[in-house]
Amino acid sequence: MKNIVILISGTGSNMSAIVQRAKTQNWQARFNARVALVLSSTPNAKGLVWAKEHGLPTQVVDHRAFKEAPNPRSAFEAQLIQAIDPLEPHLVVLAGFMRILSPETTRHYEDRMMNIHPSLLPAFTGLNTHQRALDAGCKFAGATVHWVSEELDAGNIIDQAVVPILQTDDEHSLALRVLSAEHQLYPRVIEEHLKR
Ligand code: GRF
Repeated sequence: MKNIVILISGTGSNMSAIVQRAKTQNWQARFNARVALVLSSTPNAKGLVWAKEHGLPTQVVDHRAFKEAPNPRSAFEAQLIQAIDPLEPHLVVLAGFMRILSPETTRHYEDRMMNIHPSLLPAFTGLNTHQRALDAGCKFAGATVHWVSEELDAGNIIDQAVVPILQTDDEHSLALRVLSAEHQLYPRVIEEHLKR
């Protein structure tokens, strides 16, 4: 069985789009693949509620629980790996996962960890991508699915979705348009990967 582990921190709308596609396109029968775990870095992520309601296994590894550790990030990531690795994941999918992972962890999941970023990379790595695209006068925005590498938002690009920027756009309206493109893009990219 090809196990897919999805990591979230918040709303989880990409996660739910992936789960729904897995169901409607019957990933289990066609690719012997399933979403085996939804893991959140915060206990109050809205996506956890959705995942539980849809019968998915969920787990929380709360990054704040490691605040007092000598090296909080490595303690958090050790716990994360401990939660993920027993599933021998075929794919680890970052979907609105708001923690920056160390090079050790990204190397550990090399060629098995994907991320979605709300810009047309390599433009606008990091945060506030929509406002920065508006400020730069861009005519198009979009989202990128890429392999996760040591450098933030810089791994090999797998695929992108492009949306227009309208004259009337503000950060909020653009974010909604990009997010809805993400919901098409990410499940499709994962499905293509499962076909290989
Ligand atoms: C998306 O815009 C994604 O590109 C970014 O975080 C957001 C997550 O949204 N990495 P959701 O939690 O999937 O709704």
